[in-house]
Amino acid sequence: QRSLLGLKDLSKEEIEAILDRAAYWEQHSSKVHNVMQGKFAANMFFENSTRTRFSFEVAEKRLGAEVLNFSAAVSSVQKGESIYDTVRTLESMGIDVGIIRLKPIGVLAELATKIQVPLINAGDGNNEHPTQALLDLYTMRKHFGNLNGLTVSIIGDVLHSRVARSNLWALRKFGAKVQFCSPGNLKAPELDVPYVTMDEALKADVVMMLRVQLERHESGMLNSAEAYREQFGLTVERASKLGEHAIIMHPAPINRGVEIDDELVEHPQSRIFPQMANGVPIRMAVIERALS
Ligand code: CP
Repeated sequence: QRSLLGLKDLSKEEIEAILDRAAYWEQHSSKVHNVMQGKFAANMFFENSTRTRFSFEVAEKRLGAEVLNFSAAVSSVQKGESIYDTVRTLESMGIDVGIIRLKPIGVLAELATKIQVPLINAGDGNNEHPTQALLDLYTMRKHFGNLNGLTVSIIGDVLHSRVARSNLWALRKFGAKVQFCSPGNLKAPELDVPYVTMDEALKADVVMMLRVQLERHESGMLNSAEAYREQFGLTVERASKLGEHAIIMHPAPINRGVEIDDELVEHPQSRIFPQMANGVPIRMAVIERALS
């Protein structure tokens, strides 16, 4: 089985193959294909999602799959059923691939040792979000042509960010320089990455803003939204200092007016909605790989 649990252990060549295949699907994505005809894909989200869940569903439908959508809120999880029993239940019904998003860290890796069908990580605590980073790399490669030599500033709530981690592991394999910028209490101490000031971060080729993940914060981690914006937000004034070639990214959902000003979300240098569009061909490539 060809699960995709993270990018840390995936080779540069494997990542490149996914990006190349996504480029193919981007060119051929206007109609439904029969790659997954007769196959069942289960989207198992134990944590909320809009982009990831729906772009997986669009990707599955474009590949011709039968799609099952599991939502923890209206399932027997509410009666106390475990994550393992839930996934095992769907596996026993004959699914061919499972897309899974989980809040607790470490559960996915253990689950993958017990489940036979390929599992695709759709967000694993603050550990990894590989398809998000793949679509981010795809977006950067599309703009710059090459990832080697790029400087990428990842700004904000790094501590809680699986997006930052997956991007870090993947971008380094391609020779990109990754730097973080974040408040002292939202740094990730276990990661060996240089931290820079906001002024320094704005000189990068890619300025990737992270969502302040309030739902994962312990009380008091964020003094106020205004103070955060003042110190670490991408304001209109700060954005005016970006290089003409630089791009603004954000995995979304967005706290408008906190980590990024409202006016910048659809700024000509922003790639935020193109990132979402690129999520579909990337997920088509990842699902196809899982079933190959
Ligand atoms: N970027 C991302 O994972 O968004 P969702 O939480 O809406 O899936």
